[in-house]
Amino acid sequence: MISLTSFAIRCGFPFVSFIIFMLIFMCILKEWMFTYFSNYLLPEKIINEFDYIVVGSGSAGSIVALRLAENSNNTVLVLEAGICAGILFDIPGLTPLLQKSLVDWHYSTVPQKHGGWALKNNISNWPMGSIYGGTSRLNSMIYARGHPSDFKSWFKNDSNYLYEKHILSYFMKAEDQRGRYKSSQLHSTGGPLAVDDLPFITPFAQHFLDAVSSLNFSIHDLNGGENRGLWGVIS
Ligand SMILES: *[C@@H]1O[C@H](CO)[C@@H](O)[C@H](O)[C@H]1NC(C)=O
Ligand SMILES: *[C@@H]1O[C@H](CO)[C@@H](O)[C@H](O)[C@H]1NC(C)=O
Ligand SMILES: *[C@@H]1O[C@H](CO)[C@@H](O)[C@H](O)[C@H]1NC(C)=O
Ligand SMILES: *[C@@H]1O[C@H](CO)[C@@H](O)[C@H](O)[C@H]1NC(C)=O
Repeated sequence: MISLTSFAIRCGFPFVSFIIFMLIFMCILKEWMFTYFSNYLLPEKIINEFDYIVVGSGSAGSIVALRLAENSNNTVLVLEAGICAGILFDIPGLTPLLQKSLVDWHYSTVPQKHGGWALKNNISNWPMGSIYGGTSRLNSMIYARGHPSDFKSWFKNDSNYLYEKHILSYFMKAEDQRGRYKSSQLHSTGGPLAVDDLPFITPFAQHFLDAVSSLNFSIHDLNGGENRGLWGVIS
């Protein structure tokens, strides 16, 4: 009896191609079956009124919907414009393939005066997911909180806005920090969302970080509130 690995080595490229083909085929089949059969299944199950309608199934929408649905008396509808996510979309390393694809809203910035200088026409792509799971599908599983000032516009009178009280406390409630920021005051442990350091840093990334440090730039915590400079999340 031969193991799967030795089989893969012996058969090499055709085997790997076959596996990739099967994964894509299963993905398409699942999509097709869902679309086809939902026409028959959904009308019986659908109800016309909901206590809550959550628009978007991304990092925010999914969590809001889950929290609301924890109370079994609530009826919750989640609306998502994007496509169903097949098994291939679960692989974080495939993220670059998804950006600018049919699961991306294709947003980009206007030409920047003070940034994006290495980019064509100083324009930066801002990938946003049009898929179950939203943008969390497109960002390589990086845990990045919004900048404190992003949340100001949520308040009618923004002088009432206190980042620590209104926003940070909820980020902390959700987080289970397992990495190097475990004892940081801006992070916490025990929440439902596990956050960890990268399991490895490539030699190239390490050289880059060393070079940056030798030029006296500091390397920040990506979620430390200071969203300028460099963060040690590259691999
Ligand atoms: C759901 O509603 C019932 C009846 O109104 C009530 O007795 C029960 O406590 C509610 N459950 C929750 C989790 O709120
Ligand atoms: C783009 O960046 C360059 C610096 O590389 C700058 O000189 C130029 O003014 C920028 N373009 C725009 C449209 O701001
Ligand atoms: C906004 O809130 C501040 C502090 O609570 C208050 O002094 C101010 O009058 C408010 N402004 C408006 C336009 O309501
Ligand atoms: C970095 O800081 C050290 C200590 O202040 C100084 O000796 C060195 O010249 C600085 N390096 C650069 C590239 O500015």
